[in-house]
Amino acid sequence: MTTPEHKASTDPYAHLHDESFASGFDAPSATAETMVFMGGRTVQPLDGNWGFVLDPFEEGLRQRWFDYDARPLSEWDMPRDYDFSPDWRAMPVPACWNTVEPELFHYEGAVWYWRDIDIAPPADGERVILRVGAANYLARAFLNGQLLGMHKGGSTPFFVDLTPALGADRNRLLIEVDSTRRLEQVPMSHFDWFNYGGLYREVSLIMVPATHIVDFGIGLDPATGRVRTDIALSKAVSGPAEVAIAGGPTLTLDVVKGRGQALVDWRPELWSPESPRLYDVAVRFGDDRVSDRVGFRAFAREGTRLLLNGAPVYFKGICVHEDDAERGKATSEADIRRRFADVKALGANAVRLAHYPHHEKVAEIADELGILLWEEIPVYWAIDFANPETYADAANQLSELIRRDRNRASVVIWGVGNENADSNARLSFMSRLAELARALDPTRLTAAACLINRTEFRVEDRLAEHLDIIGLNEYFGWYEKDFADFEKLLDNSFPDRPVVISETGADAVAGCHGPDTELFTEERQALLMGMQMDTIGARDYIAGVFPWILYDFRSLRRQTSVQRGWNRKGLIAEDKSTRKRAFEVLAERYAGIAHD
Ligand code: GCU
Repeated sequence: MTTPEHKASTDPYAHLHDESFASGFDAPSATAETMVFMGGRTVQPLDGNWGFVLDPFEEGLRQRWFDYDARPLSEWDMPRDYDFSPDWRAMPVPACWNTVEPELFHYEGAVWYWRDIDIAPPADGERVILRVGAANYLARAFLNGQLLGMHKGGSTPFFVDLTPALGADRNRLLIEVDSTRRLEQVPMSHFDWFNYGGLYREVSLIMVPATHIVDFGIGLDPATGRVRTDIALSKAVSGPAEVAIAGGPTLTLDVVKGRGQALVDWRPELWSPESPRLYDVAVRFGDDRVSDRVGFRAFAREGTRLLLNGAPVYFKGICVHEDDAERGKATSEADIRRRFADVKALGANAVRLAHYPHHEKVAEIADELGILLWEEIPVYWAIDFANPETYADAANQLSELIRRDRNRASVVIWGVGNENADSNARLSFMSRLAELARALDPTRLTAAACLINRTEFRVEDRLAEHLDIIGLNEYFGWYEKDFADFEKLLDNSFPDRPVVISETGADAVAGCHGPDTELFTEERQALLMGMQMDTIGARDYIAGVFPWILYDFRSLRRQTSVQRGWNRKGLIAEDKSTRKRAFEVLAERYAGIAHD
């Protein structure tokens, strides 16, 4: 990626009159195609305090802050509008700036993170690569004044090769992060969760040989039930790659021009919620070594049923956002494990990770615990469906998610959207995403939270024929006043593939008690949960349910005196410990559902 040339000018005010300042800085170069396989790699963490400069008017690009040297203020010979003094302003990484500094709670816009990094000079041909776990929404990485990578998408990892700009003695790394909401982005400017900003997942460096493993896949081949494995290298070279499965075979892949794959005749012990068997896998090509811990299972549909390893499976699910009262969208292993402990206490076997890719640790821990996952990209509500750049952004986020998590046995569904009004542009956009998911990963099913056909009052969506599973978000008894209409809808629907209730619920303020006819009481939420479960359970074309939602979560759209900036449909309050009555109602219903 080249850094746009500085428009030389003797006029020190030239930048005030140049509104084309961002041109040349907006072509994403960090995409799914520049990802590196991370399993088992040694990383140099860059977590901790970084320098931090607020940039609400994008002065950083206008005045090219990345170009300037870092002389201390006492040595300046010209005034400037930014400052890399170490004692000026700092921001911890990973974190959301909104929850670190009260004055930044509502800030949406650009900021600059910076730090000097110690990098051992790479050995012959080695590459020094920056990995950012996630930055919301877009990010630009500069090393020693050179733009080396730009990424769009607020919830997927990206990689930037820093090698071309490495300095002999000092390396100053700047990362601009811009959380501005825009119509053409994915999600666009209107959504029902909090727009946290920052480098909110881990940032690290990895050193890799010139030829290194950029992608590695292993799992059960749905057609043959045999183990299939594939590998991709950073260069189009040929040679043997070794894949050693602990407790299983060691196989050699014949890599030709950077690509290799193999099927192996071996019957592993299958992974399932009841028996989440994982195998350690070591992979080697030349000087590069990676590893992974994987489960082998088959997930398919047959008519309106879902099959896990050939047996019917029913989603006793729950939805979760990546949201925390103290840490916002930043998460921790402890937070993830608490979430799954609550899922297990509910008697659930599946979680819908709404509405964007969650931290990679979530699927790793779900593999260990035997919990099924629906993962999705934030193609949410009124996306700019006619915009090719918007499609490229969505397709890249989907590709990055699949590249990151395709070895996770717990992930069984790729979701390509949520509650998107029907139109020809939407149909084209989302059917292409579903085809892309299938092309990248034929071992999983595709879904979307569809809307219903209001005219015929039927579970019906033109998109459904492009999906394996019809997700249905429905709030009868809450947004839809007359609950009896739910029975009418289900009686009048004849789907030819599994329907999953991908959302249903109601707001309740924890501790607010009253008649079950009164909105926002725990009694109302509990009554509706029971009615929903009794109605849903009686339909054999419904293959599961993901009630909305495990915990209350922040959403500035919610400004009543009872919600106060929070969506209160959680079965547990935002303290992640106070359970509402509906939690017990759902747990009872799940305990009563025999089949898994
Ligand atoms: C919608 C949407 C959710 C939203 C929920 C609600 O179905 O998919 O993101 O939070 O309804 O209104 O609470």
